[in-house]
Amino acid sequence: MNKRRPLIAGNWKMNKTTAEARDFAIRFQEQVADITDVDMLICAPFTALSALKEELEESIIHIGAQNMHYETKGAFTGEISAEMLLDLACTYVIIGHSERRDYFKEDDELIAKKVKAALDNGLTPILCVGENLALRESGRALAFVRGQVEKNLMELTPAELAKVVIAYEPIWAIGTGKTASAEDAQEMCSGIRSTLAGIAGSVADEIRILYGGSVKSGNIASMMAQPDIDGALVGGASLDVEEFVKLVQNAR
Ligand code: PGA
Repeated sequence: MNKRRPLIAGNWKMNKTTAEARDFAIRFQEQVADITDVDMLICAPFTALSALKEELEESIIHIGAQNMHYETKGAFTGEISAEMLLDLACTYVIIGHSERRDYFKEDDELIAKKVKAALDNGLTPILCVGENLALRESGRALAFVRGQVEKNLMELTPAELAKVVIAYEPIWAIGTGKTASAEDAQEMCSGIRSTLAGIAGSVADEIRILYGGSVKSGNIASMMAQPDIDGALVGGASLDVEEFVKLVQNAR
């Protein structure tokens, strides 16, 4: 049995006003107050973080952002630093989501810098990796994902690496309703763990690996039953309080 603590992380993406975020936080908190065996996290838009801080700072629910800049401050118009996220009670930050890689052209070098900056500032980075459909169909998915893990984390010490969370998110499964089979997801997460072992030895056994891509209350249990899957990064299903509560409950 592994000793890794399960983590269920909601990724709201570009959704929810401050009022909607506050309402969600109040209702979610009430319904999961007795859950102590799963870490719960909401990664909200920057504009909703202040409301979440007010509602959740004293609660068991963690707050996270969906992106950050690697510099602490300065002339970077439109960007947000780790220091600013800490100020808003964030403890986690998603780095290198496929939507950032694709739409905003974030490359592996930039993502590696962001992961390092998050760790240097005491934030837990959730590094997203995952292949597109063409790579999956050509049988190159595992090699591609291993390459992403190596390029994004190679510079870290084993002690730093132990604090990272990885989210394996096949791009073809994100927001499409097509989930990877639990067996395929396990195979990739096990491949990621062996890549981590190549970088940092036995520390790999401590690193939490999440699955993401059309996770819902109805399919979370089969994912959690896999030995190398320690939780989920949840987009669409994290927007509705009742569904997200059910999902957390079914993850236990
Ligand atoms: P989805 O998104 O759950 O809506 O597929 C997951 C993600 O992009 O993190």
